[in-house]
Amino acid sequence: MRFAFFDAKPYDKPSFEKYGAENGVSFKYFETKLNEDTAELARGFDGVCVFVNDVVNAAVIDKLCELGVRVVALRCAGFNNVDMKYAFGKIHVLRVPAYSPYAVAEHAIAMLLTSVRRIHKAYIRTRDFNFSLSGMTGFDLHGKTVGVIGTGRIGRVFIDICRGFGMKVLAYDKFPAEEIADGETVRYTDLDELFEKSDIISLHCPLTDDTYHVIGKEALERCKKGVVIINTSRGALVDAEALLAAIKSRKVGAACLDVYEEESELFFEDFSGHIIDDDILARLISMPNVIVSSHQAFLTEEALSNIAETTVKNIVGFFRDQQCPNELCFRCGSAEDCKSGKCF
Ligand code: NAI
Repeated sequence: MRFAFFDAKPYDKPSFEKYGAENGVSFKYFETKLNEDTAELARGFDGVCVFVNDVVNAAVIDKLCELGVRVVALRCAGFNNVDMKYAFGKIHVLRVPAYSPYAVAEHAIAMLLTSVRRIHKAYIRTRDFNFSLSGMTGFDLHGKTVGVIGTGRIGRVFIDICRGFGMKVLAYDKFPAEEIADGETVRYTDLDELFEKSDIISLHCPLTDDTYHVIGKEALERCKKGVVIINTSRGALVDAEALLAAIKSRKVGAACLDVYEEESELFFEDFSGHIIDDDILARLISMPNVIVSSHQAFLTEEALSNIAETTVKNIVGFFRDQQCPNELCFRCGSAEDCKSGKCF
């Protein structure tokens, strides 16, 4: 089995080489992202292996089908970059539903602590032998209320960590898991109450039509003054322009962004010698109370190894049995997995 591996980075290769070699799957690594202009590179391969910012739209799907490519193996959990409705009946889409919820939840906490305790400022100051503490006052997390939108794998790990800090959790999920609510420290509620009462809001839901700009102008207006917004899920959950306005008006106290609406042209690449055209991102980054990381929440050794192992297992299972439990399906009527894998 030969796969064209798009948007390849040096840190991807060791794990994919290891699991690929053990299972008879070879990868040809392309640094470029998959899109309409690059799909031709998949000629002669059995499938493509793609990540969060590769584009698998109708035109790309048509091209892949024309080339005889049968499988899109996502090496990530989210699949908002794939036109699943169009893919249905044409090409099989496999994904890695979970690889390390701890990696993402811990990164969200790292960003939160960095932000509220001004660690990013302290790092720069002390390197310049500036030991002044002015402007460095933070706040205790203990006793604060954190609103968690999306209580799946990552959201639950995040909630566990928050409980360890002595925080109260207000949770919202389209499909609540009542077993995690104890009524005291963790309670499910609606978005209205979550926005009104949370000191910190962390997003752990997928990007869908329902969740697009869930943090927008109206939501931010309902939030507490000084609210901290954490987004480690998908950029378009947050209306970046509305967030910037709320930061300027001092409504939002801090923002921790591992993902950004328009990240696909920028994140994962070095633009340090370039002029960035995106004024909203540039302005956000210029704010003292905004921390941006470039979609790195997943990037731990454990997660990279799990991603490669599951991707290779998905590919091998699919070619052996013509089905895979991690195949995505739209016949079920939603963007959730088809657990049976038999709808396709
Ligand atoms: P999951 O599928 O285990 O959990 C997602 C939760 O969101 C589920 O409980 C689901 O019921 C809920 N949900 C679905 N629609 C909703 C809605 N309209 N409103 C509120 N909740 C809704 O997914 P997991 O593994 O916890 O991942 C969460 C998100 O994290 C992914 O969708 C992905 O976008 C993002 N992610 C980001 C990474 C990064 O490196 N920054 C890495 C991995 C995932």
